Amino acid sequence: MPPAMRPQPSISIRRFLHTTRVLCHENPLGLPRAGTIPRMQRGLPQKRKIKDVAKVIAVSSAKGGVGKSTVAANLALAFARLGYRSGILDTDVFGPSIPTLFNLSDAPRLSDQNQLVPLTNYGVQTMSMGYLVDPSAAVIWRGPMLLKAVQQLLHEVAWSGGLDILVLDLPPGTGDTQLSITQQIVLDGAVIVTTPHTLAVRDAVKGIDMFNKVSVPILGLVQNMSVFRCPHCHGDSAVFGSSDQVKKVCEEHEMEFLGDVPLHPNIGEDGSGGKPTVVAEPESERAKVFLDIAAKVGARIGLEQH
Ligand SMILES: Nc1ncnc2c1ncn2[C@@H]1O[C@H](COP(=O)(O)OP(=O)(O)O)[C@@H](O)[C@H]1O
Ligand SMILES: [Mg+2]
Repeated sequence: MPPAMRPQPSISIRRFLHTTRVLCHENPLGLPRAGTIPRMQRGLPQKRKIKDVAKVIAVSSAKGGVGKSTVAANLALAFARLGYRSGILDTDVFGPSIPTLFNLSDAPRLSDQNQLVPLTNYGVQTMSMGYLVDPSAAVIWRGPMLLKAVQQLLHEVAWSGGLDILVLDLPPGTGDTQLSITQQIVLDGAVIVTTPHTLAVRDAVKGIDMFNKVSVPILGLVQNMSVFRCPHCHGDSAVFGSSDQVKKVCEEHEMEFLGDVPLHPNIGEDGSGGKPTVVAEPESERAKVFLDIAAKVGARIGLEQH
C-alpha cells in the first residue's frame, strides 16, 4: 500500500486539536511537522498557486444563508460531471457545511508528506474544517489562529492526482478570512451569490467591492432562491422580491448574470441529505441550472481537462 493510503495513527488530527497544539499559532490544525513541508512564513503571506491545482474559484456573498455552500457544492459536482477533476475546499472554519452536503465525516488521513488527504464523494475531492473538529463543537479561534488554519487548509492538502478546478466555499462577510484568502492564493475569479432580497443584494454589492479592491476578477452573479413554483397550483411566487435589483447590479458593475436558481424544497432537502441536486436529481431543471453556470464559469476562466 502506498504511504499516502496507509492508515495513519489513530485520529491524530482530532486529538492534536484538543491538546496544547491549539495554543500554538504556527500550526492550529496540529499537522505533524516534517522536514519536507516548508515552515509557515511569518508576517504577511505571499500570493502563490495552490499546488497541483490548475484553476481556483471562490463562491462568495457577504451575507450568510443565501446559498453559497449549496451553490459551491453543486458547482463542484457539475464540474465533475462535465469531466473535470474537481475539488471543493470549505474555508468556513466557524460554520463548515461541506461535510453535511457531501455526507462525509471521517477524520482525514495524513499523507507521507504530512498533508491532509481529502475525502471524496460523487467524484469530488473535499476538505473541510468540519472533518477536523467534533461536529457539535464550536471553533472559538480568532485572529492569528484562524488565519493560520485557513493558510493550512489552502496549502497543506494533498489533492490526489491534481485538480483541474478547486471551488472555495467562502464564509460570509468581507473580513479576515476572505482577505487572507485573496492575499494568499492566485484566484482565477469569484462567483457572487445573492437572493433577490434587498438586504442580500446590498451585501452582495459589498462583496463585489471587496473583490474589486483586491483585484480578483468577478466571474458573475448567481441569483439563488428567486422564484418558488407552487407544486399545487404551479403558479410562480417571487418570495424574496423581483429579480430587478440583481439584474441592475449586474449592469452597473458590468457583471455577467450567471444563472437563476429557483427556491425549491428539493434543493434544500438534497443538501441536508448529503446528496446535492446535481447528483440527486441529475436530469432536473434545477441541476441543469447548476451545470449551465459551471459551463459559463469554465469558459470564463479557460478551464481545461488534463
Ligand atoms: N435554491 C434553494 N432552494 C431551497 N433551499 C435552498 C436553496 N439554496 C439554499 N437553500 C437552503 O438555504 C439554507 C442556506 O444555504 P447555505 O448554502 O448553507 O447558505 P450559505 O452558505 O450562504 O450560508 C440551507 O438550508 C440550504 O439548504
Ligand atoms: Mg455556507
